[in-house]
This record gives sequence, structure tokens and C-alpha cells, in this order.
Amino acid sequence: MIDGKKTMLSGMQSTGMITLGNYLGALKNWVTLSDDEDINCFYGIMDLHSITVRQDPANLRKSARNLLMLYIAAGLDPVKNCIFYQSHVPAHPELAWILNCYTYMGEMNRMTQFKDKAAKHSDNINTGLFTYPVLMAADILLYQADLVPVGKDQMQHLEITRDIANRFNGIYGDVFTIPEGYVGKSGAKIMSLQDPTKKMSKSDENPNASISLLDDKDTIMRKFKKAVTDSEGVIAYRDDKPGIKNLLDIYCCCTGKTVDEALAEFNGLGYGQLKECVGEAVVNELAPIQQRFKELSEDKAYVDGIIKTNAEKASYYANKTLRKVKKKVGFTELPR
Ligand code: TYM
Repeated sequence: MIDGKKTMLSGMQSTGMITLGNYLGALKNWVTLSDDEDINCFYGIMDLHSITVRQDPANLRKSARNLLMLYIAAGLDPVKNCIFYQSHVPAHPELAWILNCYTYMGEMNRMTQFKDKAAKHSDNINTGLFTYPVLMAADILLYQADLVPVGKDQMQHLEITRDIANRFNGIYGDVFTIPEGYVGKSGAKIMSLQDPTKKMSKSDENPNASISLLDDKDTIMRKFKKAVTDSEGVIAYRDDKPGIKNLLDIYCCCTGKTVDEALAEFNGLGYGQLKECVGEAVVNELAPIQQRFKELSEDKAYVDGIIKTNAEKASYYANKTLRKVKKKVGFTELPR
């Protein structure tokens, strides 16, 4: 809670271009949720998280700015919502350090994202990658977030955040709000177009596996044309047909139709026609976002202003919690 209002916080790593999975699983829900006047919303460009994997400095800077512009282009009002860079608020790594001392090795060892990333980057299993969820806990707890809208893959990190917060509150009293995860009704796990048993991920080596938010129309249509399906030839929404199920999920997320409505629409049609309709639905969904992104890219002063104002706003709230935590732990305040 902040100023008597519920608080929502979420964010994305600023690594490369975000995918249709990030958009449908998270960003699109944020836009809907932040329409509510009674919720304070914070959305982070989580650039500190990005360096757990090696980044080219120029690319990291560009990805972070692109991500901020995509948040706004997708419909997040940067005045109502506090959209900020994580690295502009030093309270994040400061609280993360403190929380590291209240988190156990065994808990971090269980994190599936750590195991996956450690396997993928076996030459660089750094301690930042290991304690990544603690930094995420700090992101959430600093703003006393009640609600954290994420895709399914982040729910384990949310659980550990709750555990850390409960442990800390158990020792020091009610310091942190215990956050709830929020996974949208649809789009919670968009799968790879090339292997629909795996989630769509921007780090996939096969460029046909994911749709980037800035892909042009031809690229989107081509990727859907190549999407892996099955040999049954019947459009049905079933777990044993993950490729078709994923296409229907994407279609429903982009059009707002229910699965039953989509199935009625595609009744008797072939996979080729389904792929074309899904591709078109995605193109239509992304076109206005891409247009607004282009306009924002041409307005440096406006974007810079938002970055500056929101860094100050985020710092104000984050520092309030951090001061409280430091006092509880027993650190000495700087004499006035
Ligand atoms: P990240 O950057 O991997 O993903 C950002 C958001 O997109 C969701 N997502 C998906 N949803 C559906 N289908 C997919 N294929 C898919 N891929 C990604 C993720 O669940 C996430 O909601 N650790 C976080 C970033 C983070 C954060 C935070 C999130 C840092 N601090 C505090 C919430 C609160 C991450 O790596 O997300």
C-alpha cells in the first residue's frame, strides 16, 4: 500500500527486443490493470538483472530505452504509471544486499530459472545469476507492492519473495507488504513457434521461434507460416496439440475472443488458414504499438524527461522503505 492505495509493480529485463510472449503474458495485462484509478503502478526497466548474462554496453543501453518506449507505446501512461530504470534507483541493490542475508543457499538452488540459465551459460555461472531472485524480491518489496502481474514462469520468484518478506517481518514486525502474484487469464505462457513445448523466449537461437514486438508484417506472417503444428489436420484446443493450442491462445489474446468463439470461426478450415488469421491478428495488434514506438523514438526530449521524473518518483518511495529497513536491522542513521 502507498498513500492508502493498492500498489502494483512489475518489470522486464532489458535484454534485446521483447517478444510477443512478454507482451501477451505481461505488458498487455499491465495496460488493462493500470486503467484502475485506485492502483499505484510501478513498472521497472530491470537493467540490473540483465547483466547476469554478458551484455554489450551499447546494446544494453539501446535495449533499455527501447523497452521504456515500448511500455509507453503499448499504452502505459508514463504520468499515471511510474516507469523507471532499476539502475537509477540505488535502493534496489542496497535492499537486495540486506535481503541476501535473510535468504538461504538451498532456496536459491531450487530456482528453475537459475538452473536453466546456468545450463545455457555454463561458462559464466556468476553469483549475480544465483542471487537474481533476491534482487527481484527487493524490486517488489521496496514499493510495498500488493500485486505483481507476471507470466507463469516468474511465479516461483514471487513465491520466494513472499517467503523472504514473511521471514523478515517475522523478525522485525510488519515492514513489508506481502505481495500476491497475478497471472492473466490468457497468454500466461506463450510457447515457441518452433517447439510449442517450450516457452517463447527472446534468447532462443532460432529466430523463427519467437515474434519480436518490432517485427514487420512480412516477417510476422512468414514466422507464423512456418509455425510447427501436428499432422492431425483438425483445429482443436487440446494439450496433446500444443502447436495449435498456442496459435489459438495467441489469436484469442490478440482479438479478445474466447477459445469457443475462435473454434467456431475456424471450424472446417485448414492449418494454413489458421496460421494466416493468427498472423494477421498479431500484425493488427502490433501495428499501433510500432507506430507509437516510432514517434517516441523521434522525441528524445520527451523520453528523457520521463526517465528523469520517474527516477525521482521511484526513488522517493523506494528510499522510504529502505530507511525503515535499515533502522529495523540496526544500522546507524547519518547524524543530521
Ligand atoms: P522477463 O524479462 O523474462 O519477462 C518479462 C515478463 O514477461 C513474461 N513472459 C512471458 N509470458 C508469457 N509467455 C511467455 N513466453 C513469456 N516470456 C516471458 C514473464 O513472466 C514476465 O512477467 N525476473 C523478471 C523481471 C523482473 C521482475 C521484477 C518482474 C525483475 N524484477 C519484479 C516482476 C517484478 C524476468 O526475468 O522477466
